[in-house]
Amino acid sequence: MLAVTDLRKEFGGLVAVDDVNFEIGDEEIVGLIGPNGAGKTTLFNSITGVLEPEDGTRVEFDGTDIVALETHAIARKGLVRTFQIVRVFDEMTVFENVMTGALFGNEESVSEREAEERSRDALEFIGLMDKKDMTTGNLPIAQKKQLELARALASKPRLLLLDEIASGLTPGEIAELTDTIRRLRDERGISVFWIEHIMDAIMGVADRIIVLNSGRKLAEGTPDEIRDNKEVIEAYLGDEA
Ligand SMILES: Nc1ncnc2c1ncn2[C@@H]1O[C@H](COP(=O)(O)OP(=O)(O)OP(=O)(O)O)[C@@H](O)[C@H]1O
Ligand SMILES: [Mg+2]
Repeated sequence: MLAVTDLRKEFGGLVAVDDVNFEIGDEEIVGLIGPNGAGKTTLFNSITGVLEPEDGTRVEFDGTDIVALETHAIARKGLVRTFQIVRVFDEMTVFENVMTGALFGNEESVSEREAEERSRDALEFIGLMDKKDMTTGNLPIAQKKQLELARALASKPRLLLLDEIASGLTPGEIAELTDTIRRLRDERGISVFWIEHIMDAIMGVADRIIVLNSGRKLAEGTPDEIRDNKEVIEAYLGDEA
């Protein structure tokens, strides 16, 4: 579904992402881990049109080159993300927030009625329907993160990119979120590419893990393989694993 070849992004003299290659398949949950500053968010930004990667980078989504496309055009193709710092419209209601995903995320033009239907479906799926009329700014962080997920779901993604969606949540909230993400794959056939520092969250659900260190891909494998990888333990996992 997604094929990334020689992804490179520099900031002045700093090579933030250093010729990284990987693929993500259908109905797959792939974790992206690595120390602070490893280049994880920059990698997401370079795939989703937020940043322009260096010449030579190839990013193909469903066989189409998407490197030169803008974020909204990429989202319309079905590649949708959430942000490390939650970005919801605080002054809108929960339902209105989800409607922005339903109306603007999708390829074909969507009628108001159809968008409402998708928004209700997304809120039901995520478990946030009882909050639909609340002003978003009043929600606790866990529900704001669920809302981001619901809004992304309402735009009918095929591949969801999640940037540290579990950070700041309690273990119980993380377990619930992880279960929702697994259901997105199993029941909706959505692939997930997930940056996360919280190992309990990502290791339990990911089919495969990619480890980034100083912009380079250090390792790739099943969660068990990554836990046992000496280089990964030295660079990152340490006593966290
Ligand atoms: N817009 C920018 N301009 C200059 N340097 C940047 C910019 N964005 C990121 N960087 C630098 O690129 C490197 C990678 O940053 P990035 O945010 O991608 O790391 P990360 O793996 O997401 O880290 P974290 O786990 O802390 O979120 C860091 O050295 C960072 O300071
Ligand atoms: Mg980051």
